[in-house]
Amino acid sequence: MTAAQSYITIRNVGKNFGDFEAIESITMDIREGEFFSLLGASGCGKTTLLRMLGGFETPTRGEILIDGQAMNDVPPFERPVNMVFQNYAIFPHMNVRDNIGYGLRKLKLSRTQRNDMVEEMLDLVQLGGYGDRKSDELSGGQRQRIALARALILKPKVLLLDEPLGALDKQLREQMQIELRRLQRTIGITFVFVTHDQEEALTLSDRIAVMSGGQVLQVDTPDGLYERPRTRQVASFIGTMNFLEGKVLSRVNGHATLGLSALGEIIMDAPLPGLSAGQSVPLAIRPEKIELLKEPSEGAVQGALELKTYHGERSYYQVRVEGHDELFSVSTQNAGRAKLRALEEGAPVWMKWHDDAFIVLDKD
Ligand SMILES: Nc1ncnc2c1ncn2[C@@H]1O[C@H](COP(=O)(O)OP(=O)(O)OP(=O)(O)O)[C@@H](O)[C@H]1O
Ligand SMILES: [Mg+2]
Repeated sequence: MTAAQSYITIRNVGKNFGDFEAIESITMDIREGEFFSLLGASGCGKTTLLRMLGGFETPTRGEILIDGQAMNDVPPFERPVNMVFQNYAIFPHMNVRDNIGYGLRKLKLSRTQRNDMVEEMLDLVQLGGYGDRKSDELSGGQRQRIALARALILKPKVLLLDEPLGALDKQLREQMQIELRRLQRTIGITFVFVTHDQEEALTLSDRIAVMSGGQVLQVDTPDGLYERPRTRQVASFIGTMNFLEGKVLSRVNGHATLGLSALGEIIMDAPLPGLSAGQSVPLAIRPEKIELLKEPSEGAVQGALELKTYHGERSYYQVRVEGHDELFSVSTQNAGRAKLRALEEGAPVWMKWHDDAFIVLDKD
């Protein structure tokens, strides 16, 4: 990414709390208007990074620029950002209107101006007509929208959101995800969104940074992370994946033939630079890229159905293959697959794949 495309620039940023290194060193760029997510397990440093962007924590090393301006010595209230905190606090004793307008008190605005701005925000978060409601008379999702409106009313260039939907139940969360995406598109500002929910990150984001142990493992589009994870660690964090080891048998004209021991051979349409015959390569294949058959077929690998689970639209089949330690996970759409679904556990099955469905991973 060129310097001109980068709106938030994070350069070698690290953070220690005493002796503890919460963030080792992170370098990445976030574009203007992007819905950018930080995704990772609890304790991986998401909140810490977000707080450094907001100015609530000082980096131990490295620098942060927003819109070309060094932020290291800029206090939170002078940054073009606002933050919705992990445990969002709205004031229960205040009505909705006063909650949303809270941040405007310090600005020299007339009462009418203030009211107009609040009304505009109420409409934006689809709470028009709720201005006089007490905040403790609202649902979780409505309260969440107040927290958003309160952060947005100051018209920040960047909104930092720390697991804003974490407290909501699944159905409401999915509804709010759509709202949030619509809101971000409508106002066109940059969102930096923290979540530990991979599905949420995939659905909402333009790009995602996958974090682990104070490091960024991969920054990519949702599609890129799913289709081309670089390492086993990233691949196991996003969706379900089968892992196996290939051995380079030969390389000719930009193609490599790999041996998969019990599973035969595949020919990859990839030059695999730096690898020579005899070396091993970590490979991965998604469950939906494997075709499951109940009859033998040319080139198909035989296994036994060990477990099947029904997930409404799809079913997952765990298949054991002689000579292969881990079970294979295969998924198929259920529509029109009644015969496959009727298979008894223990039945023989056959798996088939296109060789180019395999992903070559970096060694972790
Ligand atoms: N003020 C602090 N003092 C000491 N250690 C801290 C402090 N804040 C965070 N940490 C530690 O830094 C690490 C990263 O914390 P952080 O809050 O950034 O994680 P997170 O990714 O946001 O996790 P979660 O998903 O649980 O919110 C954790 O091990 C945490 O215990
Ligand atoms: Mg956190």
